[in-house]
Amino acid sequence: KGVRLISVPFWLGGGRAGVEYGPEDMMSAGLGRQIRNLGIRLDGDYEVCCPREGKLDPGSPRIKYLPEIKEMSGLVGEQVYRAVSAKTFPIVLGGDHSVAIGTLAGLTGHYNRLGVIWFDAHGDLNTEATTPSGNIHGMVLAVAMGFSRFKLTDIPGAGTLINKKNVVIIGTRDLDPGEKELIRSQGIACYSMHDIDKHGIAKVLEEAVAIASDGTDGVHLSFDMDCLDPLEASGVGTPVPGGLSYREAHFAMELLAETGKITSMDLVEVNPMLDHDKKTTRLAVELTASLLGKKIV
Ligand code: ARG
Ligand code: MN
Ligand code: MN
Ligand code: MN
Repeated sequence: KGVRLISVPFWLGGGRAGVEYGPEDMMSAGLGRQIRNLGIRLDGDYEVCCPREGKLDPGSPRIKYLPEIKEMSGLVGEQVYRAVSAKTFPIVLGGDHSVAIGTLAGLTGHYNRLGVIWFDAHGDLNTEATTPSGNIHGMVLAVAMGFSRFKLTDIPGAGTLINKKNVVIIGTRDLDPGEKELIRSQGIACYSMHDIDKHGIAKVLEEAVAIASDGTDGVHLSFDMDCLDPLEASGVGTPVPGGLSYREAHFAMELLAETGKITSMDLVEVNPMLDHDKKTTRLAVELTASLLGKKIV
């Protein structure tokens, strides 16, 4: 199966500029080359046109840049839908995590029932009512499952909402009160850093894959680079101490590769303007190679 790269240089979902340079930074760090070195066909790289500069108006402070995010999501969804229709494995390069609304729109247009594995320091489960920031990148999973007023199904081309039974969040250590409440009341599977410390990343991944693949016809991996410890990846907009180690993250990707169950991926929140040692971009590229089957021996 070939891989198709879809660059989305978008930053309005996180409200912090710099993250729009993520895709080109990962490309120049050799993402395409790494993929080809694995013997995988690179079936095109596409770029979604995004508003770069602005004297842009965020609009509602409770949900900023909503029209821009809807527009971007429609365009991303179209490319992702085309990629899966062409039987390729789409990798969406962000940009901030709001680009995943587009990915999920395109994927649900194709798959009947999609599982989602979400690596993140955060829950991305806020709604218009609970958000502390108004930034939509902190709401994506709530949007995807239909807990907010703005819903995945508002995006043209999207299929059904994501079923909460098939969603797993891994690596959390910074959940807002409203997010904790939603996780509790809805019974959303969330493996915090505490759970990873306690049970180990292998056990957590095993359970996560079981949840995301139960009754589904596709499993999407959404990888927010801030799931990593800032010691490994400081070039992200919202770093939180106490994250995944270098090996835990690689091992997780290697385990996912072994299952052969992942059918698409987002790689988001790399901010080259904050990535002073270039470690974050490099690690993002390496982790993608591990997910695609690169082995140590
Ligand atoms: N929970 C915070 C918020 O809602 C931070 C979210 C960070 N999200 C991310 N995709 N990096 O604003
Ligand atoms: Mn995050
Ligand atoms: Mn938890
Ligand atoms: Mn995120």
